[in-house]
Amino acid sequence: MDANKKLVANEAVKEIKDGMTVGLGSGSTVKFMLEALGERVKEGLEIVGVPTSHQTAKLAKELGIPLADFSNVDGIDIAIDGADEVDPHLNLLKGGGGYLVREKIVDILAKRLIIIVDETKIVDYLGTYSLPIEVVPFGWETTRSRIAEFGCAPQLRQKDGEVFISDNGNYLLDCDFKIIHDPAKLHDDLKALVGVVETGLFINMADVVMIGHAGMVDVLTK
Ligand code: A5P
Repeated sequence: MDANKKLVANEAVKEIKDGMTVGLGSGSTVKFMLEALGERVKEGLEIVGVPTSHQTAKLAKELGIPLADFSNVDGIDIAIDGADEVDPHLNLLKGGGGYLVREKIVDILAKRLIIIVDETKIVDYLGTYSLPIEVVPFGWETTRSRIAEFGCAPQLRQKDGEVFISDNGNYLLDCDFKIIHDPAKLHDDLKALVGVVETGLFINMADVVMIGHAGMVDVLTK
């Protein structure tokens, strides 16, 4: 599985050209992408990266990838990110790592969003993977009750026996919908609830999905 992740990560890095501002996603597939990008930077590629998580920022720095201060970023030429699920319309379910808000802010700004996954992420319908929803800690129990009315039993994410706190100081509710028939509507309805910061549904955002499988890369485009 790691071989497919590495393959697709290497393929995606070929899309990065001199002078670009590059959104750097999060997750284990992106880790391979950062390693490949670090090599190209060592060879002289001049780019600046915009990380979507502390974890990505830390690794990028270790690999010598220059990073931009996001408050000074004017635009992003290309973003490369992973996903937990991809449907046939290239809608995504993301946030398994807990970085969905920053990922969405960076990914949506990109002129071109490339998603890198292995074949295990390709689904007919989103929702088998629990949907992460970031919520404000204040009154999260009432927000959870209102989310539950949409047909799931939201679980407060924990890590190492403690409540997981997002990069933005919020909580995550993981919601097992099983099948999401209309992800755009579900996203809109959830976003309309007070207390919901963002959902892990990335609707109509990906331009390209690169899928690594059996030593090959398949490319899906919008
Ligand atoms: C991080 O919050 C997620 O959106 C990741 O992009 C996603 O979990 C993919 O990670 P892997 O490449 O490790 O599967």
